[in-house]
Amino acid sequence: MTRRPPPPAPPVPGPGAPEPGTGLGTLPAPADLRAGVKLVEDHATRVFTWDYRRDRTQLVTLYNKAMGAQWNSVTDLDWDTDVDPERVVADMGDDAVPRLFRVAATLPGSPLAAWGEPEFTRLGVELLTARLSQFMHGEQGAMITAAKLVETVPWIDAKYYAATQTMDEARHTEVFARYIDTKLADSYPMSPFLDEQITALMEDARWDIAYLGMQIVIESLALAAFGELHRTVTEPLLKKLLRYVMSDEARHVAFGIVSLSELYQGLSSAELGERQEFLAENTLRNRARSTTPEVWERLGVPVRAVVPSLMEAATMTGGSVFAGFQRAFFAKLVPNVRKLGLLDANDGWLRERWGQAGLLEFEFATDTAEEYERYDAVSAHRAAQTPGHEPAAGTGV
Ligand SMILES: [Fe+2]
Ligand SMILES: [Fe+2]
Repeated sequence: MTRRPPPPAPPVPGPGAPEPGTGLGTLPAPADLRAGVKLVEDHATRVFTWDYRRDRTQLVTLYNKAMGAQWNSVTDLDWDTDVDPERVVADMGDDAVPRLFRVAATLPGSPLAAWGEPEFTRLGVELLTARLSQFMHGEQGAMITAAKLVETVPWIDAKYYAATQTMDEARHTEVFARYIDTKLADSYPMSPFLDEQITALMEDARWDIAYLGMQIVIESLALAAFGELHRTVTEPLLKKLLRYVMSDEARHVAFGIVSLSELYQGLSSAELGERQEFLAENTLRNRARSTTPEVWERLGVPVRAVVPSLMEAATMTGGSVFAGFQRAFFAKLVPNVRKLGLLDANDGWLRERWGQAGLLEFEFATDTAEEYERYDAVSAHRAAQTPGHEPAAGTGV
């Protein structure tokens, strides 16, 4: 059913209304907030639609699945699990403290030269805490960006879906924060790389860029990062938490693919070119990730002193700490972007750039819109609790 929009109501000042000139309403001054929050100005236009028809069947299906797959962060996870962080790290082996760090300790003049197993274990715990901290901050960014999609996407089916995703991301932020707080130690600040990437999406006036950046790039990144940690960790609470988060993330990527495939069919070559440039810039920059410097500060090792040893060790071991992760990320991202038609638009502009970077080997891997249901461990576990039901393959914790 479609109906005409009512005339806009005149603005009514009230509690919390912006004060002229400040742009901040009743919020405290930025100087007072600086320690606890970051203020981001969003330039996108909100869209209030009067078209309530449910004619995007794939989005309706995803929304219905999302409603059924909501899990409870309090009752579906056993927070009484006793977690020994050093045992978690020991069980992860080289996946907790990559060999590169041990090689760095053998180099002449390395500040790690006197390190023994206790120091490496502590490094492992800090690296795990740093990793989960970035997940926590990234999840909050996802929650805010999903809320922005609710506001800016013009289709009612996509607004409904993005609303379920906002709830998913709230739950993800909450469980990572609780795990760090109750099982590990102090969290780490958001890395400048992740901060810059997510802030740019929050500020962008083009709603589909927030969509592309969050639902395709960052969600593919998250799926790879969570998958890698899930594969290597044995601690049951963290393992189940990651698996449940992944169940949601795969559906989020599928949402991005379904929505953007429709949108991009109607864009001009110039508009598609902007999206291709965005992807080239963001994905090639992803490859420049590095270890959180605060880890070294917390361990009492000067960052400037340790970096040369790490770089030399990286050359000697033939790759970066993140090589495995990067492969997993591009194995998710490239087929998803192919599905959107962005590899070949504008005479294959993106195909050429990604080809030069060696990323096209993943072009024909399965895209997430095709395989997202395989990730749904939440539904599989519920079905397994029904007597006589066989759980689906590939969905176990
Ligand atoms: Fe998430
Ligand atoms: Fe997500």
